[in-house]
Amino acid sequence: MNICSKVWCRTVQFFFAIGLKILPIRKPEVISGSGKLSELPDFIKSKGLKKPLLVTDKGIMKIGLPAPLLASMVSADMECAVYDETVPNPTIDNIEAGLKIYNESNCDCIIAFGGGSSMDCAKIIGARAVKPNTPVGKMKGYFKILKTLPPFFAIPTTSGTGSEATVAAVISNSVTHEKYPINDFCLVPHYAVLDPLLTLKLPKHITSTTGVDALTHAVEAYIGRSNTGLTRDMATKATKLIFENLKETYDNGDNVDARENMQIAAYYAGVAFTRAFVGYVHAIAHTLGGLYGTPHGLANAIILPYILDWYGKSAYKPLARLADFAGGICEKSDTIAVKAQKFIQAIKDLNQSMDIPTKIKGLKEDDFKIIVKRALKEANPMYPVPKLMDKKQMIQVLKQLME
Ligand SMILES: NC(=O)c1ccc[n+]([C@@H]2O[C@H](COP(=O)([O-])OP(=O)(O)OC[C@H]3O[C@@H](n4cnc5c(N)ncnc54)[C@H](O)[C@@H]3O)[C@@H](O)[C@H]2O)c1
Ligand SMILES: [Fe+2]
Repeated sequence: MNICSKVWCRTVQFFFAIGLKILPIRKPEVISGSGKLSELPDFIKSKGLKKPLLVTDKGIMKIGLPAPLLASMVSADMECAVYDETVPNPTIDNIEAGLKIYNESNCDCIIAFGGGSSMDCAKIIGARAVKPNTPVGKMKGYFKILKTLPPFFAIPTTSGTGSEATVAAVISNSVTHEKYPINDFCLVPHYAVLDPLLTLKLPKHITSTTGVDALTHAVEAYIGRSNTGLTRDMATKATKLIFENLKETYDNGDNVDARENMQIAAYYAGVAFTRAFVGYVHAIAHTLGGLYGTPHGLANAIILPYILDWYGKSAYKPLARLADFAGGICEKSDTIAVKAQKFIQAIKDLNQSMDIPTKIKGLKEDDFKIIVKRALKEANPMYPVPKLMDKKQMIQVLKQLME
């Protein structure tokens, strides 16, 4: 990258980092623990709310995950409207369809029940409800909503995205196949219910890939240049919890303690990256999600080691510290470079132990131009990555990702 572009990127990142320190991001009120979901209907009622819209997806409905919550709302004399058509990599069409139900049913609050897709879809339904004249496409980027959402309850059923803690919602345009983040302080949910019992039936491949998504949040936040004491603390705790618990949840899905630890890790990583940003792993993963429908966690899990290798020495120090925090990855006496390399190898080993592939299916050289354009537009100048990447360098990485 030429020197002018570098100075521009680093200047923007510097001012954003200061801005985020002056305007601290709120955290959701967290209700956590096994079985805590059963308390939600009374809690919602105690806030004077009567008619939620529950946003979820068909897969979650099919396995009956929201059924006890819906039944207990009926018992509590509450009417709950449901939108269950959210697709992975949720689309603008999903949002408009959910908004229609929200308006027609005169809803007064939103329950996001599911993985990142349902939570993000629900966030932008809320944004459209308070900004009816702003189309979703115009919300792309930063601070285009600036209005309080209806009371918002996030109930994650995967342990990955951390959307229950973040300022972000990532939306796809089904016509252009572009996937982009919408970021605004008002998108942080008001309440998050972390009930590990909801994650016990997560299939193995979703457990593994969503878990590595959380790890990617922690790592990208920690190695970036916009950390605070809080983000460092959250990212290191998340990294340790993930190395200690992810493989166990993959092998023994019924282990409630391990599931609970992964849920906490995903939340911590969300708190970290929403203040300290992500990096090129996410920028490329979002683009591939829009273009090929590659599941978000899978894309991140595959891309993460390649980008960390590409950062090279520029990321060695923070990666070495993460290796120390995670425990069991390196020796105290190892050099910084060796610790960092062992950390990257530990991620590769973790991926391999959970049958995560090393290449992106369907990635075509013909698409490199559009991928590079979109990914660099998302990442530069905002993401405070350890080393800035230009077009040529991204193409080199994409070539390595091809089957
Ligand atoms: N807003 C943010 O801060 C943020 C951060 C990272 C990623 N994201 C976005 O989140 C989306 C990905 O979310 P995700 O990885 O959680 O996956 P997802 O929400 O797309 O869900 C993946 C699949 O898992 C199933 N599922 C979910 N919970 C289940 C459970 N408990 N049991 C059985 N099946 C279950 C769903 O039905 C779905 O088929 C992407 O669009 C990504 O870009 C958002
Ligand atoms: Fe992510």
